[in-house]
Amino acid sequence: MDYTKFINPRAAALRPSGIRKFFDAVNEVPDAISLGVGEPDFRTPYFIGDRAIKSVKDGRTQYTANNGKSELRELVSQYLQARMGVSYSPSEVLITVGASEAIDLALRATVSDGDEVLIPEPCFVSYAPCVALAGGVPVPLPCKESEGFIVTPEAIGAACTAKTKSILLSYPNNPTGAVMNETEIRAVADAIVGHDLLLISDEIYAELSFGGAHFSPARIPALRERCIYVGGFSKAFAMTGWRLGFLCAPAPLYSPMFKIHQYAIMCAPTFSQYAGIAALSQSLTDGFEAVSAMCGSYDKRRRFMYKALTDAGLDCFEPMGAFYIFPSVKRLGVDGETFAMGLLEQEKVVVVPGSAFGESGKYNVRISYAYSMQKLITATGRIADYIHNHFKEGKT
Ligand SMILES: Cc1ncc(COP(=O)(O)O)c(C=O)c1O
Repeated sequence: MDYTKFINPRAAALRPSGIRKFFDAVNEVPDAISLGVGEPDFRTPYFIGDRAIKSVKDGRTQYTANNGKSELRELVSQYLQARMGVSYSPSEVLITVGASEAIDLALRATVSDGDEVLIPEPCFVSYAPCVALAGGVPVPLPCKESEGFIVTPEAIGAACTAKTKSILLSYPNNPTGAVMNETEIRAVADAIVGHDLLLISDEIYAELSFGGAHFSPARIPALRERCIYVGGFSKAFAMTGWRLGFLCAPAPLYSPMFKIHQYAIMCAPTFSQYAGIAALSQSLTDGFEAVSAMCGSYDKRRRFMYKALTDAGLDCFEPMGAFYIFPSVKRLGVDGETFAMGLLEQEKVVVVPGSAFGESGKYNVRISYAYSMQKLITATGRIADYIHNHFKEGKT
């Protein structure tokens, strides 16, 4: 049977995720130590799970309102004001199935056929495929390590054409760990407004910012009015499997996203919404104790990894957010994929080739440090051995 005629050409043209392709190879090495996955190693704090269990036991298992429970939207609004300094009314908050759905909604609601969407790279793997599925053209903006892996107003200006519709910013960044400070955000704000772009701001790692408070682009009024803010519970609250996120936007942008969500999803899982209510209401009361404890632990591991990998002979950009480090292996004379495959085969350590996050990551590897200190110590020891034994250019 010829199935090709049944398949949407846009879906057929998608390349398999670079991460998944690599993990297929990893499955062949069952006892490998993985530093590959981008999710917290913590269990969801107990009080959060407990509230979800109670909601199920109480029989609260029906659909909620399409945009999410009003109590949760009210709490997200308070949370964003308290922690991010951004003001969104509960009616501007849409509860989604993770930040993933929010990103997809933002793109499907705004991209028309042939629209160009600027995507600073390296970046999260879903952006370009979601743009393509929406009928748009992803336009990568390679970010240089020498410029702190952030996007510049000049790069935006140079990439804009008559077809450019929007830009997707994501800081703190996966995979580089780069953050953008207020001055840097203000500098690109002028370019975004000047070129009349829509901004989709994925701030899923906002709580994991180690050099000072996160500065949201939505704090700038001229950006807020043209911004779709994306956030969620996965990273800060160790809730990846709950699939709970949100987006915020002014009413004219909100309305088309709400309609797509209403028809495609109906509502985010009810018990997860109860979990979200517990996460935010307790945290707003106790000063985000659980989040701070997890962040403190990531920060300790971040500093350990930066030193250990630098000592091992890798050129490391110091990450200031999220829970990844993105060393360059160029000096060793190989690309990230060759390095990662060799490390897996020789030392049974899993890191992800940087090319999975865009062409500009070709000579890097992404290492997640959301793993126990014990694992990180063993893995960095093996990485040091690998470099020492296989590359002349390693410092060891
Ligand atoms: C930058 C970025 N955005 C969004 C997501 C998806 O988050 P969620 O679990 O809320 O769908 C991830 C997950 O790794 C991510 O790294």
